[in-house]
Amino acid sequence: MKSYRIAVIPGDGTGPEVVSEGLKVLEAVSKKTGFKYEAVNFNFDGDRYLKTGKTLEDKDIEELKKYSAIFLGAIGHPDVKPGILETGILLKLRFSLDQYINLRPIRLYNPAFCPLKDKKAEDVDFVVVRENSEGLYKGMGEFQKKGTKDEVAIQISYNTRKGVERCIRYAFDFCRKRNRKKKLTLCGKTNVLTFAWDLWQRTFNEVAKEYPDITTDYAHVDATTMWFVKNPEWFDVIVTDNMFGDIITDLGAMVQGGMGIAAGGNINPQGVSMFEPIGGSAPKYTGKNVINPLAAICAVSMLLNEIGEEKAGKMVEDAVIKIVQTKMKSLAAGKMGYSTTEVGDLVVKNL
Ligand code: IPM
Ligand code: MN
Repeated sequence: MKSYRIAVIPGDGTGPEVVSEGLKVLEAVSKKTGFKYEAVNFNFDGDRYLKTGKTLEDKDIEELKKYSAIFLGAIGHPDVKPGILETGILLKLRFSLDQYINLRPIRLYNPAFCPLKDKKAEDVDFVVVRENSEGLYKGMGEFQKKGTKDEVAIQISYNTRKGVERCIRYAFDFCRKRNRKKKLTLCGKTNVLTFAWDLWQRTFNEVAKEYPDITTDYAHVDATTMWFVKNPEWFDVIVTDNMFGDIITDLGAMVQGGMGIAAGGNINPQGVSMFEPIGGSAPKYTGKNVINPLAAICAVSMLLNEIGEEKAGKMVEDAVIKIVQTKMKSLAAGKMGYSTTEVGDLVVKNL
């Protein structure tokens, strides 16, 4: 029997509540499909920061490297200045574990929850492959003449050939493996950002030659947001940089039914990957048993797929689909017709 070690970072706000539903489902599916795992909790969160002044240290990263995968709830505490926990914990994890892919499946399970008019479930089924280690997120730049009326703030988008190429290759491979429309769209801004997107476009075109079975396409990022709303059925797999990927995946989350269902993976194909519901810590719902745990449960499904338990991953996703189609009144917090823990129980029952 295969055995895994899962590092769990429940995090802030409603993070712990949704994580415990995710773990409930993990436990149930492990028994059904027959694998073993050990889940170990880490309190890398806002409360710990407020008590100790610590975010993440190098020894914490070294410890996490010993795990098969990481399951993260949410990072973000109302008493901590914005930016500290995001950079000190979430981005630090992504960067130091070299999770260079942010994978965001956008799939509509029930058209009743889609804000777009006349779209069927099969019209919204695509995946965004977001570069997760470079671009504007690299944090390069400077202030000049700070605090004066001549102040200049420079923020650099840092793109390396190696970084761009590994992301594009991942997207082509993913598209081939997904085996749906076999179409990969590069989402960029070649008409204005002429350094970064020249590199991306050239790399994309070169790598594409090795994948004759994949149809390629290009869309500017602004047009992409338009197509997401107008014709989401055109997309299969989209590859883009860190900043554009951040923006379009929030739009994607809305199109698939909202933050209550949206999950993502921070993937290092050769290392330790981390899975999370992409919504925030939602402090106002904390402790009320009203937050939707399905995004966290979908994150567990993605985690299972990544560690090689695809059968279990699919079982979890199928159970989520079933209850989204037959039980849930809404995917929004407090309006689901069930409490957080009841939704977790429903998924378990439908495995
Ligand atoms: C996301 C989030 C993060 C990001 C924040 C919390 C730093 O919005 O995962 O998309 O910008 O990447
Ligand atoms: Mn985001």
